[in-house]
Amino acid sequence: MPRRRTLVSASILDADLANLAENSRRAFRAGSDRLHLDVMDGHFVPNITFGPTLIQHLRHIGKRPFDAHLMISEPGRYLDKFISAGCNSITFHVEVEEPIEPTLLRIRKAGRQAGLAVKPGTPLSALEPYRELIDIVMVMTVEPGFGGQSFMFDAARKILPAHDLFRDRAPELPGGQVHVDGGVNRKSAALCGALGAEVLVVGSTLWKKNVDMAREIQLIKALADKGYEKGAPLRKGRAEAS
Ligand code: DX5
Ligand code: ZN
Repeated sequence: MPRRRTLVSASILDADLANLAENSRRAFRAGSDRLHLDVMDGHFVPNITFGPTLIQHLRHIGKRPFDAHLMISEPGRYLDKFISAGCNSITFHVEVEEPIEPTLLRIRKAGRQAGLAVKPGTPLSALEPYRELIDIVMVMTVEPGFGGQSFMFDAARKILPAHDLFRDRAPELPGGQVHVDGGVNRKSAALCGALGAEVLVVGSTLWKKNVDMAREIQLIKALADKGYEKGAPLRKGRAEAS
């Protein structure tokens, strides 16, 4: 058996949102390690989902971490509400047109993990100025906005070098995590694992009719871990989360 266990964060974007609490519990029961909450404002992306009030009401379903993925133009404006809602990590996009550093500092000050996401076309160099301020790099392998899109293999190339952003971190900081978001399923899990991704965001594939969610999550983790083992030579000399 491969040594490492890759984590899964189930995205509820494509779940039946009318039964969100039950569906989120189902994802935890099926072995999801975290819950990924896609917040969209119809401006930063061409879709609208939900906001912090819903997350707050959902918080009681379990103790496992909630990851907020903010696809909104003004994360700074709404940040406090996501903190109060009980999100354990808050990730927003480096492409937003407002100052990024103050928002990252506020997330950290609130004791939450701070993350930055990059769209497929955005280079990792955009994250360089913030490397000491982030705990999560979210590599998007689809254009943000919708579930059920195909995994972009080209964008996935960033997973491996994303770990370099966590190199030479101050010793008091916890190890950083790379999350991969978009099109992750049986076909793409092994590559994500090989490139060292710590957390796989898995959405639509879990919510399809007649899918045995527990089996699917187990399979995706196993494929990622197997990929991780095989990818060892690729990752030699790179920084990784412990
Ligand atoms: C897309 C979202 C994703 C989405 C992933 O903008 O950020 O989290 O739910 O869904 P799949 O796994 O279907 O690509
Ligand atoms: Zn997402």
